[in-house]
Amino acid sequence: MTKKKHKKIRKVIFPVGGLGTRFLPATKSMPKEMLPVVDKPLIHYAFEEAHAAGIEEFIFVTGRNKGAIADHFDYSYELQDILSNKNKKRELKVTTEWIPEAGNIIFTRQRQPLGLGHAVWCARNLIGDEPFAVILADDLVLSKKACLKQMVEQYEDCGGNILGVMDIPKSDTEKYGIVDIDSKFSNSDAKLVKARGLVEKPAPEKAPSTLSIIGRYILQPEVMDILAKQKAGAGGEIQLTDAIATMIGRSDVFGYRYDGVRYDCGGLTGFVAANVAFALEREDVRGRLINQLVGVFDRAGVK
Ligand code: UTP
Repeated sequence: MTKKKHKKIRKVIFPVGGLGTRFLPATKSMPKEMLPVVDKPLIHYAFEEAHAAGIEEFIFVTGRNKGAIADHFDYSYELQDILSNKNKKRELKVTTEWIPEAGNIIFTRQRQPLGLGHAVWCARNLIGDEPFAVILADDLVLSKKACLKQMVEQYEDCGGNILGVMDIPKSDTEKYGIVDIDSKFSNSDAKLVKARGLVEKPAPEKAPSTLSIIGRYILQPEVMDILAKQKAGAGGEIQLTDAIATMIGRSDVFGYRYDGVRYDCGGLTGFVAANVAFALEREDVRGRLINQLVGVFDRAGVK
């Protein structure tokens, strides 16, 4: 039997403690991660992606007003009872069939939204000394093979820390974490690149590249020690990017150009575009939706 070189990725953190201010008033009493794309909440897609990547433990770092997320991953006895009595088999299946075994879903509270890095650190005792994944539910990836699964397969080969990355227009660097590519390791356009630095939200003229980090990470547990001492960075928040940047030199940090299209559902246009893109993937919706969209574009004068 061949021995695996790297510790298996068994745990994922879903940081869901943010305020989602870009979606107010929708997020006044509802978590952003519960916004639906077609008929599933964003966090449900994140869960499915982690599951497809072989993850066994799902850790949610939540805040106030996030009770709907915990309810979504629990049984809903009254609803199930009604569906069952009415013999609504399909509806019952999509409501319950995917709920993981009790004990595999863990919730912890961030208390204050001090930044993504702080949210990840809040899960330190649940992670222990294992490498782990992080998925940001508001970065939704449409792909044939689940984005995190692609990354886990890459990790099995190279180990270290892996960040999901994509090429973006130079004018957008201010919105994302950007990779400073180590050109001694590979060409800058290779599928796997090595980082020699990371910069959170640099102005276009200061950005070391146009390779942006998306909300998919495989990280070594040492990042938790760095996060414990991490000071607030860009936007006054404790940044995960800064902590990962500190790891460079102590352990490898790679950028992985996954196959797929990322929709930034943390912003309005990305969210609406994701709804259209995911709906068009659905055989039961596609035809009718195209007809309706043609009408919408006509009426809005879009050529
Ligand atoms: P964002 O900055 O996109 O989310 O953080 P936000 O703060 O909720 O949104 P806006 O900017 O106010 O509209 C990316 C991810 O990190 C989580 C968010 O929930 C989101 O999934 N996050 C962010 C936390 O869990 N805690 C934080 O303190 C900040």
